[in-house]
Amino acid sequence: MRFIKIKYGFAYIVILLTLITFLISFNFIPTGFEHRTIIESKSPQSATVTETKRIFFMKTHKCASSTVQNILMRFGHMENLDFLLPNMNNYIGNPIHFNTSMISNNYSTEDGKFDMFVHHTRYSQEIKSVMRPGTIYVTILREPTALFQSLYSFYHFDKKYKCNLTQFISDRLSNKSSANQINVTVTN
Ligand SMILES: *[C@@H]1O[C@H](CO)[C@@H](O)[C@H](O)[C@H]1NC(C)=O
Ligand SMILES: *[C@@H]1O[C@H](CO)[C@@H](O)[C@H](O)[C@H]1NC(C)=O
Ligand SMILES: *[C@@H]1O[C@H](CO)[C@@H](O)[C@H](O)[C@H]1NC(C)=O
Ligand SMILES: *[C@@H]1O[C@H](CO)[C@@H](O)[C@H](O)[C@H]1NC(C)=O
Ligand SMILES: *[C@@H]1O[C@H](CO)[C@@H](O)[C@H](O)[C@H]1NC(C)=O
Repeated sequence: MRFIKIKYGFAYIVILLTLITFLISFNFIPTGFEHRTIIESKSPQSATVTETKRIFFMKTHKCASSTVQNILMRFGHMENLDFLLPNMNNYIGNPIHFNTSMISNNYSTEDGKFDMFVHHTRYSQEIKSVMRPGTIYVTILREPTALFQSLYSFYHFDKKYKCNLTQFISDRLSNKSSANQINVTVTN
């Protein structure tokens, strides 16, 4: 009996390990490693990669934009690029849209133009007039419900509105008059 028990025990372990391996390999169990998609070009010769050193990065809240901003700032620092910087904090023009009078004299350039703009702002056409030729314009968007969930926790709306997210949503849905109370906070 003892022998059979051990045999069964061993069989259970094998089955369990197989199951875990199966679940991990199909991503049912998060392992802490990010799932990476490797895109391979079928004809690498035809892919042209052009390096750019001029970037306007539209920084968006709760979209991993601080991580990307940090990478861009380190890159720009290494390459000695000209940044359009705020005098303090992380914002250039908010809540009103960007205009050229927001550029600090402390960080001006000879031609009045810049290679990098990676801080929070609200987009306006005037941004184009201060970026040097060849600038690329990029941003990060996130699925809106996940973004709102993250925003709710980051800004401690539970304390501000004295309710959790579930309660908050059902309140807003049943009371149209308070539906727009948070519109300012959710701008860039
Ligand atoms: C431009 O920005 C400044 C703040 O730096 C603001 O006082 C001014 O009203 C803005 N101008 C326009 C046309 O929005
Ligand atoms: C320049 O930076 C200093 C702080 O280093 C600040 O006190 C001052 O207001 C800034 N000047 C302008 C024009 O933004
Ligand atoms: C949210 O708050 C409501 C009302 O206080 C409560 O009934 C509910 O259990 C809470 N939900 C969560 C997920 O905490
Ligand atoms: C609806 O929201 C407004 C504004 O927050 C509040 O004054 C009012 O009492 C709410 N009405 C109900 C029925 O909860
Ligand atoms: C959003 O907030 C601004 C500033 O508080 C307010 O003037 C505006 O009416 C609000 N928008 C809506 C759609 O309620």
